Amino acid sequence: MNTIGTAVRLTLFGASHDSRIGCVIDGIPAGTPIRAERMLGDLALRKPVPDIGTPRMEADVPEISGIVDGLSTGAPVTISFANTNMQSVDYSSLVRTPRPGHADYPAFCKYGAAHNICGSGMFSGRMTTPLVAAGAVMRDLIELLGISVGSYISRIGTVADTAEYVGSELVRSRDNPLRAMSDELVERMRAEILAAKADGDSVGGIVRCMVLGLPTGLGEPFFDTLDGEIAKAVFAVPGVKGIAFGSGFSAATVRGSENNDAYRMQDGAVVTTTNNAGGVLGGMANGRLLDFSVVFKPTSSIARVQQTVDLYEYVDTELLVRGRHDPCIANRGAIVIEAVTALVVADLAKRGEYL
Ligand SMILES: Cc1cc2nc3c(=O)[nH]c(=O)nc-3n(C[C@H](O)[C@H](O)[C@H](O)COP(=O)(O)O)c2cc1C
Repeated sequence: MNTIGTAVRLTLFGASHDSRIGCVIDGIPAGTPIRAERMLGDLALRKPVPDIGTPRMEADVPEISGIVDGLSTGAPVTISFANTNMQSVDYSSLVRTPRPGHADYPAFCKYGAAHNICGSGMFSGRMTTPLVAAGAVMRDLIELLGISVGSYISRIGTVADTAEYVGSELVRSRDNPLRAMSDELVERMRAEILAAKADGDSVGGIVRCMVLGLPTGLGEPFFDTLDGEIAKAVFAVPGVKGIAFGSGFSAATVRGSENNDAYRMQDGAVVTTTNNAGGVLGGMANGRLLDFSVVFKPTSSIARVQQTVDLYEYVDTELLVRGRHDPCIANRGAIVIEAVTALVVADLAKRGEYL
């Protein structure tokens, strides 16, 4: 369904070529300071990047209720955006000939002719605009507890950033639209995306996300665990195909003696020497940096002839996808991952009565 969260709940509405898209958020305590400039800054990081992003540009001016003079009023917070820059004609043939790798075929089977495929409907990356705006509100809320969320791009195609960073450094990635951690990586990642685009193709990537300042114990086992709730929210983001916390899949290749994070005392506090757990044990924050990586697949809408089927005649056919598409999603997806993470943390913080 279209609602996520328990104590802080978000409901998403609209679709790519509907008149509006937006969200309704319930559970923001009255009097929470909300910064408009943070929301606009986060929205700017989701926008397509000239030459390496879709040419679809929207003004994305948020229309907001439930916040007056920078403070939440206690009423539901609603944030919506007008859709203005639409080219629905590009999508008309996709009802009949679904794009390989996109949601067209299962949506056709589930919703039939009622599905609005224009702009990919509710399966469009456009749906992440209100999520990012809501994420900024959540960041303001969890900042009251000293919690902050950051991310960077650790891989685009074959270009990997293998350096290790402390959480507070990640803010550097906000200076460039690739969300990379150095000028050199910006250039190499840009070249990787442009090379795929020149081939009429696309490329995938990895977002590494970190959360600082989580209170130890945050999370609601058995089922509403910190990692489980984040995974659920992250998998709602279009194009996400994987998530791993800490040492992730590589934990399968080492022994317990290497993977365990040994405890020690430091300045009167319990710390660990390593963070292979990624900051979560038993579904609860363990007092270390929450550290996870998210895989975005290569964009499915590519500028090449692809094999598909004609769903009216049930015969094989070919398709050349038209329309405006991102040759890479991951860089725009980074701020979306931060947003849904902040949403989950806010919800769990309220459920755990930290807020
Ligand atoms: C910010 C953002 C932008 C996206 N842009 C495109 C795009 O231009 N073309 C496309 O085919 N998919 C794009 N996607 C991904 C699709 O929406 C997604 O692949 C599709 O809904 C199928 O869902 P799945 O990949 O999660 O299975 C984008 C996703 C995000 C988060």
